[in-house]
Amino acid sequence: MKTFRAYSSAVFVALAMILIFCSTHVNVVDAAQASKPSDTPAGNAETGKRVFNKIGCYQCHGREGQGSTMTGPRIAPDPVPFEVLASYVRKPSGEMPPYTAKVVSDQELADIYAFLQSRPHPPAAKAIPLLK
Ligand code: HEC
Repeated sequence: MKTFRAYSSAVFVALAMILIFCSTHVNVVDAAQASKPSDTPAGNAETGKRVFNKIGCYQCHGREGQGSTMTGPRIAPDPVPFEVLASYVRKPSGEMPPYTAKVVSDQELADIYAFLQSRPHPPAAKAIPLLK
């Protein structure tokens, strides 16, 4: 009977692991769907530029979001997915100060995002005569 008990508890542990795996797997799929680009809210790049400068994002990330080693990383062009930006601005985990909805609304964040996305890419180094 001892072997049967050992066997059934092994089966129980295996079932529990499968359940845990399945539930975490579902969460991963949810997260992947949540970050689809189609979920990015529409924003106005002109308004975004104004807000970006007014509330001081530019002080650390530069007027173009180009960043600077001493103050803050590059955030444009090709910013992180909108949800990442929105949640980071509300609850940063490093040196950056938090911005509540009183300071910058969700719509204004969407506008800032549109501004960051609209920044042109720099020319390739090969295309700059002085670097040849
Ligand atoms: C006082 C300087 C400062 C200001 C002002 C500031 N940031 Fe930041 N930001 C940082 C720093 C430094 C980081 C790097 C992570 C950290 O230390 O928090 C960062 C990180 C970020 C990131 C994450 C980048 C990544 O690749 O994960 C985003 C997005 C961002 N900032 C957007 C903004 C926006 C939008 C504003 C204006 C609402 C803003 N920041 C204002 C300093 C600043």
